[in-house]
Amino acid sequence: FCNRLRHVESMSLQPSGAGRISHLNAVILGEPLESEENDLVFPSQEFSSQALVSSPEQYRNMYEKSIEDPAGFWSEIASQFYWKEKWNPEVYTENIDVRKGTVKFEWFKGGRTNISYNALDRNIEAGNGGKVAIYWEGNDLGDDGRLTYAELLEKVCQLANYLKHVGVRKGDAVIIYLPMLTELPIAMLACARIGAVHSVVFAGFSSESLSQRIIDCKPKAVITCNAVRRGSKPIHLKEIVDSALRESVKNGVTVDLCLTFENKSAMRREDTKWQDGRDVWWQDVVPLFPTKCDVEWVDAEDPLFLLYTSGSTGKPKGVLHTTGGYMVYTATTFKYAFDYKPSDVYWCTADCGWITGHSYVTYGPLLNSATIVVFEGFILLIQCEQFIQAPNYPDAGRCWNIVDKYKVTIFYTAPTLVRSLMREGDAYVTRYQRKSLRVLGSVGEPINPSAWRWFYNVVGDSRCPISDTWWQTETGGFMITPLPGAWPQKPGSATFPFFGVQPVIVDEKGNEIEGECSGYLCIKNSWPGAFRTLYGDHERYETTYFKPFAGYYFTGDGCSRDKDGYIWLTGRVDDVINVSGHRIGTAEVESALVSHPQCAEAAVVGVDHEIKGQGIYAFVTLVEGVPYSEELRKSLISVVRNQIGAFAAPDKIHWAPGLPKTRSGKIMRRILRKIASRQLNELGDTSTLADPSVVEQLISLGDC
Ligand code: WT7
Repeated sequence: FCNRLRHVESMSLQPSGAGRISHLNAVILGEPLESEENDLVFPSQEFSSQALVSSPEQYRNMYEKSIEDPAGFWSEIASQFYWKEKWNPEVYTENIDVRKGTVKFEWFKGGRTNISYNALDRNIEAGNGGKVAIYWEGNDLGDDGRLTYAELLEKVCQLANYLKHVGVRKGDAVIIYLPMLTELPIAMLACARIGAVHSVVFAGFSSESLSQRIIDCKPKAVITCNAVRRGSKPIHLKEIVDSALRESVKNGVTVDLCLTFENKSAMRREDTKWQDGRDVWWQDVVPLFPTKCDVEWVDAEDPLFLLYTSGSTGKPKGVLHTTGGYMVYTATTFKYAFDYKPSDVYWCTADCGWITGHSYVTYGPLLNSATIVVFEGFILLIQCEQFIQAPNYPDAGRCWNIVDKYKVTIFYTAPTLVRSLMREGDAYVTRYQRKSLRVLGSVGEPINPSAWRWFYNVVGDSRCPISDTWWQTETGGFMITPLPGAWPQKPGSATFPFFGVQPVIVDEKGNEIEGECSGYLCIKNSWPGAFRTLYGDHERYETTYFKPFAGYYFTGDGCSRDKDGYIWLTGRVDDVINVSGHRIGTAEVESALVSHPQCAEAAVVGVDHEIKGQGIYAFVTLVEGVPYSEELRKSLISVVRNQIGAFAAPDKIHWAPGLPKTRSGKIMRRILRKIASRQLNELGDTSTLADPSVVEQLISLGDC
């Protein structure tokens, strides 16, 4: 790997044409290039000279150190945080190889710390109490607010004191079901302060999904708000919680407290359904508590949060992250991948309901005492609409209006948003100055080169490097990412591994392959931010991630490496679909569909979608004698909306008299994917099918 990097080093010595797409000035925006991998975009001299990592050589030295001496590398960084007690002499222990026993990673074990203390108190003690921690921007123009670090700490302490008062203790789970109000990061930080384990559930999930999570983690409390406005429509979140709690009780899980924030702009408290004894208004109790709250010092390996994510079976996985390693890793990746400086204003458009909102709205930036923008707006809206609209409230220029308003310097978003804005035309962008921007970021799925170029040339005026960060809920933080200023970028490639990460590409048999190649992406060592288990199911953790290729962590992604060593992610290789940068398990959608009384069988695959990256395509076999109808199509879609959430609704229902199966009854998804994407002459070998005529029927019925 380091040899390949030497090659990159020599490339970066070429004349740079400062910040422009080198030797490609003639390329028209969006036109496919002959070869993407020869397309190099150099950081400007001006940018590189001020960057934290300013050359491939500097990166290589740091990277080599991180691999040769992980304990030394990470403990030096960890020492910059506050530890009540230092960790054990061995900085980390790992067993990544299932053949050698239970898979286990531990970092900084024995160390006692608190991430909320490190994100707030430590920064305030360093003189940042008056610095803005959060700029909050509401849906409506002019609806905004701000909190300094000192004010944020007071709010966190009040809630932490209240939670302690009602009996929430270290190790207890708390479910947070809130939209992007400041109360969301406040609630996360308050839980962390008292050692409670938060589990944020994206407020676009349905009550069934919410109850499934409640039943799994048995929280002491649920924190929510009465309603949220999506566009002009209020969504009664509290009622979704009510019904989830009713369902949980039926399954033997009773939650004694539902702390409800009154979100006045969406709904008045008088109109909110209420269960006395269980429901409490946030505004009635939290402000009564003291603004100082002692910290619960926890072991570095004590759990910090649980976050449910989709896998290839119907049951969501409770990804468990612990405290110390996650803290060190999110802070460090944030700092280097965005070349963070104390004067930056940082805006990540993700919702805290997903991992990006944990690591890169809340923890990573605040641990660096960054000023962040939290936008209530459209993200929830986009993800819950069946057809994605541009974030166009009041118009498609809203993002850049916010960038100018707060002088945002680092803007981190998802390719789906870039594509939806790109479609609206450049004028919405160029109407705003965007002079403050200096680094752009992308996450969630591979960014197609044409969207990359639009983001780079139009949004960033060809002067802001793009950090295309590849990572996962499980990895806690960035794994493969550009370091802006360090080396030339290639649009669409996530480039090179972060410090301490050893990615390898393996073939079907699990043999590492070298040089220019493609295969399965695995990681061969532990890193501080890695998840430690799947909540309550360590066996599934091992089976899903460590058994497919023994000796490695298997990411579920395919990738290739080009002649210069750049890594290109090519998407999931398992039964997971990536819709707008978020994972949906095909099995989850299938089990929702088959719960419909008229659905006999369903098979779901992903298809290319212009805006979402992938869309959900469902083949549905009806119960004998039931006719196809538009009404039935709608009712099938609504079953999925109700069981999972609106963001998981299929884009297409394809009536299927039968599904292509092998003689042993296994559905051949390979064929379904080809039918869904209309690649009918690439169906491949159908001779192993139990009934090959099924395929013909499917093709002819497609557009019914
Ligand atoms: C999957 C993880 C990590 C935060 C958001 C999604 C895909 C993510 C990239 C990227 C190519 C990417 C992968 C990965 N993915 N970022 N920059 N380039 N693919 O988190 O829901 O855990 O999904 O998202 O397929 O496995 P997630």
